[in-house]
Amino acid sequence: MKISGSVALVTGANRGLGRAYARELVSRGAAKVDEAARDPGAVTEPGVTPIALDITDPARVAQVAQQCADVSLLVNNAGVMKASTFTDAPNLDAARLEMETNYFGTLSMCRAFRPVLAANGGGAIVNMLSVTSFYTNPFDASYGASKAAEWSLTNGIRTELHHLGTLVVAVHASFIDTAMAAMTDAPKISPESVAQQACDAVEAGQIEVLADDRSRFVKASLSRDHELIYPPIQQFWDAAVSGTP
Ligand SMILES: NC(=O)c1ccc[n+]([C@@H]2O[C@H](COP(=O)([O-])OP(=O)(O)OC[C@H]3O[C@@H](n4cnc5c(N)ncnc54)[C@H](OP(=O)(O)O)[C@@H]3O)[C@@H](O)[C@H]2O)c1
Repeated sequence: MKISGSVALVTGANRGLGRAYARELVSRGAAKVDEAARDPGAVTEPGVTPIALDITDPARVAQVAQQCADVSLLVNNAGVMKASTFTDAPNLDAARLEMETNYFGTLSMCRAFRPVLAANGGGAIVNMLSVTSFYTNPFDASYGASKAAEWSLTNGIRTELHHLGTLVVAVHASFIDTAMAAMTDAPKISPESVAQQACDAVEAGQIEVLADDRSRFVKASLSRDHELIYPPIQQFWDAAVSGTP
């Protein structure tokens, strides 16, 4: 689909990658960009419309879908990462929040906007996934589970919405230079590069973006994951926890 002239809505658009998505859409000539944020007062971009939206609030999601009936491009960007292990975390709060936001929140948005996109010619959904959709890393284990669920959701809705003409784009990246990845010095891709690649995919009708070398390596290695992906993670984790009970 053409972004120029389209009406787009980006979730979690007040900062980080969401803000880069909104800027990219404005620069490509979107007729209107709705920047959805839990605190719409934090939306300061010129040329965008702030919308109050917590994607874990189904009633508000339904209201926003009614209010934004002109949307033809939905960017499900909002997400949380609590750096929580499966077995050492003090309780399930982080795992539940990640699943509630990354999986159920995105699912609510896709369900609410299905008829909106269909009424506007099909349009497109971009789901912001992760390299951890493909494998589990103990440093952000429950986040990975939520992103794997969101990847499954993305593949499922692509099939379900095909007859409505809705393009569904999965975007996978390793570390992106935003607050979410502030705890690591590992190489990071810029949010602008991710947003540009995702918008290129929307315009080209491409269903998947592997935004960096790590994502491309991991996806290509999935059939040999226990040889190529997990051994270095195991080594790293064992060194990190050696001596702890
Ligand atoms: N950074 C990375 O390394 C990386 C890598 C791969 C994928 N991703 C994915 O990229 C997306 C954007 O992340 P980011 O790097 O920009 O992280 P970020 O800087 O932490 O921003 C997260 C955004 O999501 C919003 N958000 C969180 N929970 C929400 C909710 N319930 N309802 C509405 N908005 C909510 C936040 O709003 P508040 O300001 O209100 O908290 C914020 O705008 C996420 O889906 C993330 O999983 C990030």
